Amino acid sequence: MGLSLKSPIIVGSCGLTNSIEKMKKMEEYGAGAIVLKSIFEEQITNEVMQSMDNTNFDVSYRDAFDYIKGYTQMASYEKYGNIIREAKKNLSIPVIASINCSSDGDWVSYAKRIEDAGADALELNIFFLPADFNKLGAVNEDIYFKIIEHIKANVNIAVALKTGYYFSGLAKMLQSLSYTGINSLVLFNRFFAPDIDVENMHIKAAPIFKEGEGFYNTLRWIAIMYNHVNCDLSATSGITNGKDVVKQLLAGADTVQIATVLYNKGIEHIQTILNELTEWMEKHHYASIDEFKGKMSFDNINNPDAYLRIQFMKYFSGIE
Ligand SMILES: Cc1cc2nc3c(=O)[nH]c(=O)nc-3n(C[C@H](O)[C@H](O)[C@H](O)COP(=O)(O)O)c2cc1C
Repeated sequence: MGLSLKSPIIVGSCGLTNSIEKMKKMEEYGAGAIVLKSIFEEQITNEVMQSMDNTNFDVSYRDAFDYIKGYTQMASYEKYGNIIREAKKNLSIPVIASINCSSDGDWVSYAKRIEDAGADALELNIFFLPADFNKLGAVNEDIYFKIIEHIKANVNIAVALKTGYYFSGLAKMLQSLSYTGINSLVLFNRFFAPDIDVENMHIKAAPIFKEGEGFYNTLRWIAIMYNHVNCDLSATSGITNGKDVVKQLLAGADTVQIATVLYNKGIEHIQTILNELTEWMEKHHYASIDEFKGKMSFDNINNPDAYLRIQFMKYFSGIE
């Protein structure tokens, strides 16, 4: 990303990176960088809609519509711009802004405002559920490339892409994305998921603060993608302690992002994770991360098939 980080631990975008006090604490306990809480494409769109509902304008009057639309979008970004400016004023570690989006709309041009507000980089969280029966994968995937092209035309700061794993040709897709000019891939986002309340027969949210979720899936894909992408790799999902960080770095990650564990154990837990990482490095006589980064990646181990194994057959053979 071209950013100089004092530690590989980045606090991922979440509710905790919405407060200057909390962010200062993250820096104090050793975070290398912070990704601000995302501004959501839907948030902007909804604010626009709400503003329209509260206004007795005849929306068929095009100029008025455009004026209100422009105003509400600006207000959203003004608020977000203020958070960026405050964070930059109070922190010395890099501040990465975040936009959560799923379409190539006119909101893209506002990325420039984020850059102007002083963000060191921009993380794009692009994902939409491929649940439309009328759309083939290629049609969905094309949207990612369009958004990135549009964003890259609007900003000069480094851009990271945080995404999910619902692509039919995941390795090829991630590799192609890495050649679009983005500076980092953040693998993988954890998504809000539905659950069923069987007593009251309604849909509820699946547990949000469950630690460890998604860790091994990320580990596998960081290991497979290492050496095969044209950008940095940041690992996220399920990282809770120093050993988890070591594993992701050995697989090939340049950095890791954490969120849930800080909700559960407090922001000071960053220091514990860093201590555990340092202890491990000392024990194994590593003076820098570069000395062991990617050492256990798909390309660098004798039995890379271990990363491709997906069936339990071998594991369970002989175990009834
Ligand atoms: C409460 C909460 C809010 C989050 N909000 C965002 C967000 O606004 N934008 C985003 O890109 N990721 C968001 N995330 C995802 C995290 O940044 C992170 O990628 C994910 O939770 C996996 O890491 P973890 O297992 O350490 O939590 C959020 C996660 C949590 C738990």
